[in-house]
Amino acid sequence: AIDISKLRDLTGHITLDFGYKNTGSTKSAITFLDGEEGILKYRGYSIEELAEKSTFLEVSYLLIYGNLPTQTELDNFQTLISRHTLIHEDMKKFFDGYPSKSHPMGQLSALVCSLSAFYPESLVAEQTKEEQELTMIKLLAKMPTIVSWIYKKSLGHPLIYPRNNFDYVTNFLNMTFGQRTEDVTIDPVVVSAMNTLLILHADHEQNCSASTVRMVGSSDCNLFASISAGISALWGPLHGGANQAVIEMLELIKADGGDTEKWINKAKDKNDPFRMMGFGHRVYKNFDPRAKIIKKACDDVLEKLGINDPILSIAKRLEEAALSDPYFIERKLYPNVDFYSGIIYRALGFPTDMFTVLFALGRLPGWIAQWKEMHENKEPIGRPRQIYTGHTNRKYVDVNGR
Ligand code: ACO
Repeated sequence: AIDISKLRDLTGHITLDFGYKNTGSTKSAITFLDGEEGILKYRGYSIEELAEKSTFLEVSYLLIYGNLPTQTELDNFQTLISRHTLIHEDMKKFFDGYPSKSHPMGQLSALVCSLSAFYPESLVAEQTKEEQELTMIKLLAKMPTIVSWIYKKSLGHPLIYPRNNFDYVTNFLNMTFGQRTEDVTIDPVVVSAMNTLLILHADHEQNCSASTVRMVGSSDCNLFASISAGISALWGPLHGGANQAVIEMLELIKADGGDTEKWINKAKDKNDPFRMMGFGHRVYKNFDPRAKIIKKACDDVLEKLGINDPILSIAKRLEEAALSDPYFIERKLYPNVDFYSGIIYRALGFPTDMFTVLFALGRLPGWIAQWKEMHENKEPIGRPRQIYTGHTNRKYVDVNGR
């Protein structure tokens, strides 16, 4: 391990790298990504194998603690989480306060930050390892409850309390789609699809939101506030918000008669601000491996649920046209994780504005792992430099003379 405190302070030498295209911000042992080859691994395990064989809870454990859990470790993890799934009753007042049409990402960010008010032990800068771990467990446990309740409130439906005899994903789906009087039977196809989607979103090394979580956490800010900042970073349509933007785009193309060629041309036109949402990636210059898995899952889920969604065929036609178009080939623009995920969320019954919230639910263990690693590495406060381009000396003129 490197001793960060011994790294030389190169004061006076500034690297200017807009968007940090070539600047590493940390050393990390969590996620490996090879964008040229299209490889993604969590803690050394391929994303393909984890998506096929694991559950989201196992992957959460893997990301946070570094190894896949034994059966006993997994049982203990599940039990510990199920003890903390409730949120403070007073927090329900927040849900009542939001207009029913307010965007769920704004609510999620605010509610996660507000957890710090209800669980003040999270504010102690010098938390013991046990206290820190309990805060992480609380957040993992309460996030599905918060997400489900945001959704229920948006519908004006009664809130469904957590059922601790259910596994993590089934409990989430029951709170989201269940009724007060009885549990709905959650289709195993839906549980499995949800597990796959959450696993595929669970971490992605130093992206905009993970870097935000590390940056905010580097000031010794508590976990809830750091992750709330990550949620805000994820909201943007160039990051996690793309999954909502993709469906809106596909709907627009459908309403416009489904002429995919016209929209491909729009995306290529430099005088047109339109971008092909769900295409391109800062790091992947090859197929996003998550997009491959999601595309297949999309076909499977729609078939098993007997859903025929016309926007799926529009998406496939767009992909096909883009993959043989010189503009997309030269710029190495391939479908990313967001291109097909929204079609599955839609098939499972989620409204479009919940898509990015579901991304956040999946990304949570990754953010927690990044925050934890940053603390364990004892990384210094993040503080980039700048090249000043403003005025040098200006003479102050009184307001009457300006
Ligand atoms: N549609 C059309 N052209 C595109 C697209 C697109 N989706 N993405 C990139 N390009 C073009 C750019 O116009 C640029 O062309 P130029 O060289 O002629 O100027 C070139 O490809 C390089 O693009 P940059 O914007 O420089 O690439 P950057 O790495 O900064 O951006 C990003 C990556 C933000 C993902 C971009 O590809 C994009 O906006 N995609 C659409 C939004 C999206 O799907 N975001 C989700 C990303 S995955 C995630 O965060 C979970």
